[in-house]
Amino acid sequence: MENEPKLPWWIFTIPLLVISSLQNCAHGEPQVPCYFVFGDSLFDNGNNNNLSTLAKANYTPYGVDFSDGPTGRFSNGNNTADVIAKLLGFDDYIPTFNKAIATNNTLRGVNYASASAGIRNESGRLAVGDVIPLDEQLQNHRIVISQITDALGNKDSAMKLLNKCIYTTDMGTNDYTMNYFLHQLYNTSRQFNVHQYATVLIQQYSQQLKSLYDLGARKVAVVGLVQSGCSPNALATYGTNGSSCVEMINNAVQIFNRKLIPLVTKLNANLPGAKFTYINFYQIDAESTQAFRYTRVACCNLSSIGLCDPSTIPCPDRTEYAYYDSAHPTEARALILGGRAYRVQSLTDAFPVDISLLAQL
Ligand SMILES: *[C@@H]1O[C@H](CO)[C@@H](O)[C@H](O)[C@H]1NC(C)=O
Ligand SMILES: *[C@@H]1O[C@H](CO)[C@@H](O)[C@H](O)[C@H]1NC(C)=O
Ligand SMILES: *[C@@H]1O[C@H](CO)[C@@H](O)[C@H](O)[C@H]1NC(C)=O
Ligand SMILES: *[C@@H]1O[C@H](CO)[C@@H](O)[C@H](O)[C@H]1NC(C)=O
Ligand SMILES: *[C@@H]1O[C@H](CO)[C@@H](O)[C@H](O)[C@H]1NC(C)=O
Ligand SMILES: *[C@@H]1O[C@H](CO)[C@@H](O)[C@H](O)[C@H]1NC(C)=O
Ligand SMILES: *[C@@H]1O[C@H](CO)[C@@H](O)[C@H](O)[C@H]1NC(C)=O
Repeated sequence: MENEPKLPWWIFTIPLLVISSLQNCAHGEPQVPCYFVFGDSLFDNGNNNNLSTLAKANYTPYGVDFSDGPTGRFSNGNNTADVIAKLLGFDDYIPTFNKAIATNNTLRGVNYASASAGIRNESGRLAVGDVIPLDEQLQNHRIVISQITDALGNKDSAMKLLNKCIYTTDMGTNDYTMNYFLHQLYNTSRQFNVHQYATVLIQQYSQQLKSLYDLGARKVAVVGLVQSGCSPNALATYGTNGSSCVEMINNAVQIFNRKLIPLVTKLNANLPGAKFTYINFYQIDAESTQAFRYTRVACCNLSSIGLCDPSTIPCPDRTEYAYYDSAHPTEARALILGGRAYRVQSLTDAFPVDISLLAQL
């Protein structure tokens, strides 16, 4: 029948969900051959280290609990990308773009994430200096793909590999906190109301995700925006006006988030073989924070821009704090964030599937 509706690819995933939750973590090979990371400071593992920017975390007390010390991760230890990589079965950390290229180590994936970067080129830049916005992260991915193509001998083999990888994209927060709400530096809030702004961001993001698909990505987890109106930084900067968080920010990012499910659905319907999924980080972020004794104060002493003050001593027990600095989770909380992105705890954590299922499709 010509007009018979095609069943969506995820229709058989509920039984899979049960199977996957019964499986034990098998050791050995990872569940997918490669993991590529696009994003901002929640996922950055050192890509900003060599940039002329204030948005860096390659000094103590960052990395205080990390085997390699300070690496550029905005955390005391592992970040969310590390947690997801580990759950996918990777033994090694996913390398930064510079390191992957320099060591010819691109076949298992690359981390392109850059703190303070956004969907829009200008986000972050007027506030902190150089950053790597999503368009440039995609440019870097093209460079990596040419190295992969060289290594595998031809484009077909490269595409076959790229089709099997997991991709996560965590973008958009800085288009709000490092652009729209920085009225002194940016015009966007005078050009667009919050609804218009979410619409233009989603249009641009949609093009960027389409480019990622054109570069061979099929299994893409699109990470929604966290509750950045509840960060110690937002509370200190804007005040709460009687609420427990800065509602102006939370409301704006939720308008963006609500457009991500329709976006993912549209990409899946229009692009053959595409398996985009949405991770509800707003909810996961909000609930994960509640697992900690200190939910609204940073563990480290802060610098004037809300990062950890260099060489000061952080709080003794990092597992009691939701935030390491004024905007970024402790490793203890990244374990929850990455853990629930990988395997849902509540059915509303992901739509249509979590990363553990995406790996199996
Ligand atoms: C860092 O930047 C300097 C100067 O811009 C350059 O010479 C060096 O190769 C860069 N290092 C890496 C690892 O990219
Ligand atoms: C970070 O992840 C690595 C690799 O999974 C693990 O060995 C380590 O214990 C984790 N925690 C810290 C603080 O490094
Ligand atoms: C962002 O910058 C890149 C070059 O760095 C450029 O190719 C791209 O067109 C720019 N995007 C927009 C929307 O201006
Ligand atoms: C990178 O490694 C591959 C093998 O994995 C090799 O074929 C290729 O020549 C290497 N490229 C460079 C620039 O070293
Ligand atoms: C922002 O607004 C100012 C004054 O209205 C104008 O001079 C400037 O060109 C604008 N900048 C951008 C990036 O639109
Ligand atoms: C503060 O809250 C009141 C009542 O909810 C609201 O009318 C007002 O616009 C808020 N002010 C700001 C600056 O958000
Ligand atoms: C951190 O700040 C607290 C309170 O302001 C202060 O008592 C403490 O000495 C600071 N710690 C370091 C290591 O600077």
